[in-house]
Amino acid sequence: MKTKAVIFDLDGVIVDTAKFHFMAWKALSDELGLFFDEAVNERLKGVSRMKSFEIILEVNGAQDRFTEEEKEEYIKKKNDLYVSFVKTLTPEDMLPGVAAFIGRARAAGIKTAVASVSKNAPLVLECLRAADMFDYVADAAKVEKSKPAPDIFLVCAEALGVAPADCIGVEDAQAGIEAIKAAGMFSVGINVTVTSVEPDVHLKSTSELDFEKIVK
Ligand code: BG6
Ligand code: MG
Repeated sequence: MKTKAVIFDLDGVIVDTAKFHFMAWKALSDELGLFFDEAVNERLKGVSRMKSFEIILEVNGAQDRFTEEEKEEYIKKKNDLYVSFVKTLTPEDMLPGVAAFIGRARAAGIKTAVASVSKNAPLVLECLRAADMFDYVADAAKVEKSKPAPDIFLVCAEALGVAPADCIGVEDAQAGIEAIKAAGMFSVGINVTVTSVEPDVHLKSTSELDFEKIVK
């Protein structure tokens, strides 16, 4: 493989937003009398907004409690709170080693992209002032099949004009690692807690993102 592009997940790879998702889902769950804890939050990593709410409802045996309309209303409420937390992010919140790794990759002529299922990805990147670090940011709203389907990684590779086999994908969630593998890319896992599928390289944190060791 001759690496021509590195495609990053956003939440949990570029910035730690899991705590914001937790606080927002917890507030909504408390309001609705639903159980929600850190272990359930883990299961929501890499999972879309509606699917996340459906997992919370399923955990509570409450799959049929709300109409589709009500569910839409509640996930909007969760998102409004989440967005208010995201707006507190600054460039200092980028996870350690990420900016240096991206800088090194771009200096070597390697393209970079963001493959996040979050519809808030542009806002998060804006708050981190990181949008310019990427040649392409996938639009989650336009990618029908969410991770673990490979689609969002393939959309990025195509937009960058690079063959999937020449791409590295970086992810913190099991669904993301599965998506990278299904896309035929080399996978780098960052502290992936559930590993039914092992990433090609598994790091404990982003501070271990060593360009010389990872990029071939
Ligand atoms: C993923 C997160 O990146 O984005 C999930 O890991 C989240 O936890 C998903 O549910 C969707 O995010 P958003 O911002 O569109 O609600
Ligand atoms: Mg993630």
